[in-house]
Amino acid sequence: MTPAGFPPDFAFGAATSAAQIEGAHQAAGRGESIWDRFASKRGRIHDGTDPRVTCDHYHRWREDIELLRWLGVGAYRFSIAWPRILPMGTGRVNPPGLDFYDELVDGMLAAGIQPFPTLYHWDLPQRLQEKGGWKSRATVDAFVRYADVVTRRLGDRVQHWVTHNEPWCIAHLGHQAGVHAPGRRDPSLSLTVAHHLLLSHGRAVEVIRRNVPAAQVGIVNILVPVHAASDSDADRDAAREVDGSFNRWYLDPLFRGRYPADAIADRIRLGHLRSAELPFVHAGDLATISAPLDFLGVNYYSRAVIRSGSAGIPESVQQVPDEALTDMRWEVYPDGLREILVRVHRDYSPKNVYITENGAAYPDEPGDSVVFADKSRVDYLRSHLGAAQQAIAEGVPLRGYFAWSLMDNFEWAEGLSKRFGLIHVDFNTLRRTPRESAHFYRDVIENRRLSTELTSAAPGRNA
Ligand code: FCB
Repeated sequence: MTPAGFPPDFAFGAATSAAQIEGAHQAAGRGESIWDRFASKRGRIHDGTDPRVTCDHYHRWREDIELLRWLGVGAYRFSIAWPRILPMGTGRVNPPGLDFYDELVDGMLAAGIQPFPTLYHWDLPQRLQEKGGWKSRATVDAFVRYADVVTRRLGDRVQHWVTHNEPWCIAHLGHQAGVHAPGRRDPSLSLTVAHHLLLSHGRAVEVIRRNVPAAQVGIVNILVPVHAASDSDADRDAAREVDGSFNRWYLDPLFRGRYPADAIADRIRLGHLRSAELPFVHAGDLATISAPLDFLGVNYYSRAVIRSGSAGIPESVQQVPDEALTDMRWEVYPDGLREILVRVHRDYSPKNVYITENGAAYPDEPGDSVVFADKSRVDYLRSHLGAAQQAIAEGVPLRGYFAWSLMDNFEWAEGLSKRFGLIHVDFNTLRRTPRESAHFYRDVIENRRLSTELTSAAPGRNA
């Protein structure tokens, strides 16, 4: 069977984020971010690296736009660094910060690439963290001002806006598990943070619509299909609980204007909440949060298989051999992408959906410094693009796909050692080299269908 082509207006893109690729942490008045601070503490970043230079995209963005142009993408998802725009989070605007994104956007448009900026991809100005960070409603106000400043400057050229990237990661990994900045371990705090992120999203939507008449506004969530490890009632209930805290805790307020009752009950049982009266929700908040969106961004990497562990706490189990895992030890499970897209469409009916991130980390073969034959990543992309096509066939209004990531970068707590790039980055020389997966994706984009042949030649590939 020949795989079907993609719809004519389907957007193929690649994604990155500021803290992961820009480097230049003190250039042109940029303030410190919580990730700069977090990475400076011993033991927080597993390979001992930090984001101060990473891909040095801040100085090499022209070359990176050339790579995007070579790939043939129609859209590029990147993020804006709040500490470049407002070094202290509030107060004084830093004009060179705005100038940087202004030029970057012009560069993209000149290359025929639609900009898809994300306002917040985790790099809170450190100064705001010192004033309470996302625990404080003042940070909501600060975010709305930041969104206003940025959209006034770029809104004449940029239509698509993402408010936040993955509130679950910020709230849970940053404030409950403590493995991401700012490294807190407080489950109740994490719920307050989640709410303030959602509220700041809703309030920013109003501002973006005011500043950008043709705006298409959305939010990006990481979503995970949660499967029970067995048919037992206990395992099925554990899977329900994880689905509640991971997926529905964010989707229900955004699309239904309420937090899910069963997940609230779970949090009370765990002692994270005292009662169903959520202390952080003020009158009107949920109406603001559930303002209609133009699109939902879905980041998909893997599924979760959950069993009821000791003391009834859900735990993750790995039921597949190591070969089916990426370098992050995430299971390769393409049908989960189809499943979660179909489910979101059925349960929440977003007007439009984009896959805003999807990809895989794999180590390079030792000595493989010329061709970068990353067959595993090619297989990952091919199978997930196939799952995206199936979701379209099942009626999901899927409008685009962004590969994570354009190039290897600073993978948060994993540092520079987990490589997600279509393009390899040598972190000593900062040289970029397209992998086979980049050639594969380039062919998909050019033909607008999944092919099995690799035909393109990359710039500098054999140099
Ligand atoms: C997502 C993040 C992105 C990247 C990928 C691997 O959770 O949004 O920045 O780190 O994971």
